Amino acid sequence: MPRHSYSLAEDLADASRLVARVAAGQSLAALRAAAPLRPAVLELVYGTLRDYGVGDALVAGLVHRMPSDPQVRALLVTALRALRAGRPQHAVVSQAVDAVARLRIASAKGLVNAVLRGYLRDRAALESRAAATDEGRYRHPQWWIDRVRTQYPDAWERLLAAGNTHPPMTLRVNVRRARVEEYLARLAAEGIEARRVGPHAVRLATPRPVEAVPGFDAGLVSVQDAGAQLAAPLLDLAPGQRVLDACAAPGGKAAHLAELAPVELTALDVDEARLQRLHAALERLGLAARVLAGDALAPEAWWDGRPFQRILLDAPCTASGVVRRYPDVKWLRRAADVDRFATQQTRLLAALWRLLGAGGKLLYATCSVFDTENGAVVNEFLARHADATRLAAPALDGAQLLPDADHDGFYYALLQKTS
Ligand SMILES: C[S@@+](CC[C@H](N)C(=O)[O-])C[C@H]1O[C@@H](n2cnc3c(N)ncnc32)[C@H](O)[C@@H]1O
Repeated sequence: MPRHSYSLAEDLADASRLVARVAAGQSLAALRAAAPLRPAVLELVYGTLRDYGVGDALVAGLVHRMPSDPQVRALLVTALRALRAGRPQHAVVSQAVDAVARLRIASAKGLVNAVLRGYLRDRAALESRAAATDEGRYRHPQWWIDRVRTQYPDAWERLLAAGNTHPPMTLRVNVRRARVEEYLARLAAEGIEARRVGPHAVRLATPRPVEAVPGFDAGLVSVQDAGAQLAAPLLDLAPGQRVLDACAAPGGKAAHLAELAPVELTALDVDEARLQRLHAALERLGLAARVLAGDALAPEAWWDGRPFQRILLDAPCTASGVVRRYPDVKWLRRAADVDRFATQQTRLLAALWRLLGAGGKLLYATCSVFDTENGAVVNEFLARHADATRLAAPALDGAQLLPDADHDGFYYALLQKTS
């Protein structure tokens, strides 16, 4: 049977539907999990969300009043993204007008036509006006820009720019099944350009689907950012230790822990559905762990009372360090979320500390760049817990890793129980 090939109008309609849903507060990860998306739509959606600040500023410069229908607004920013990405101008305008009918927003036909033609007529001036606003220039919400500008007076522009780039694709070599040098040689033999960016981290020059990654199915490698790969080694595991990964799903760091040493690993997460991915990863990699669905804040429901020697708390957070992978996060978060996460992180840290044995180590981790979720949480914890001391982590230059070409943004604090 011949395969249906999609028109640009269908791509624009489908992409703008998703953009409208994200604008209404739904996460792209959840939308993607609910229905697979074709690559052309994915590219449009990710590009539109990466550029949403500028897209919205451009629309504002082209209309008297912002369209009240969120779907119309979403179609406009999606079509502007297609134009800004260099798609043929005529095709984008006429196909966006066709998309109007598919989206059942026929009354917006004239507006869509006028806005897109208006943009093409006055492109340079509109672009420079959009770039004069913070959101248009830095493509992040204003509150976010203000926060990082205050926190990182020397690095904030670099940090925001990194958040707008395409993320690298990095693999973690399963040390139980392969050596990094051997795997690099295999990639080279298959004509795949790559380089080492960490003890077990191999960055591909060009991202590719996992099905096309040599040895993926056989459990030789996993996809994991080089910054995320720093977590497990910081816990300096020894065989036989009782180890808890308290927020383990979907399992990137848990699998790395299990690869590094034959420990007695408990992988806990409150989200049972996300744990399915952890099960699949362990199976593919040939690893074992006790996987539990449970609440780290209520250990009486799942803990046998025997202290752990190592605990990883990879806490739920704003994900402000990984927005180049999840560009929807920039527009979904609200300023108040930062404090809400900090409260949750503080509670998790205190609850898990009680499960750690004397001399044991706990690694507190987030993929955020906001100090409220990082240093502030850890400092408050240290002030309240006389039996906690913070260890220097030699693998890190500083506790806060800012996103750069080779890794995402992460924060790590290694804590030890002194008595
Ligand atoms: C940053 S993600 C963990 C990522 C994971 N460590 C990895 O490397 O793949 C945070 C996780 O914390 C889980 N979580 C949130 N609150 C929790 C709680 N009270 N108890 C256990 N897990 C929780 C979430 O379901 C989410 O899967």
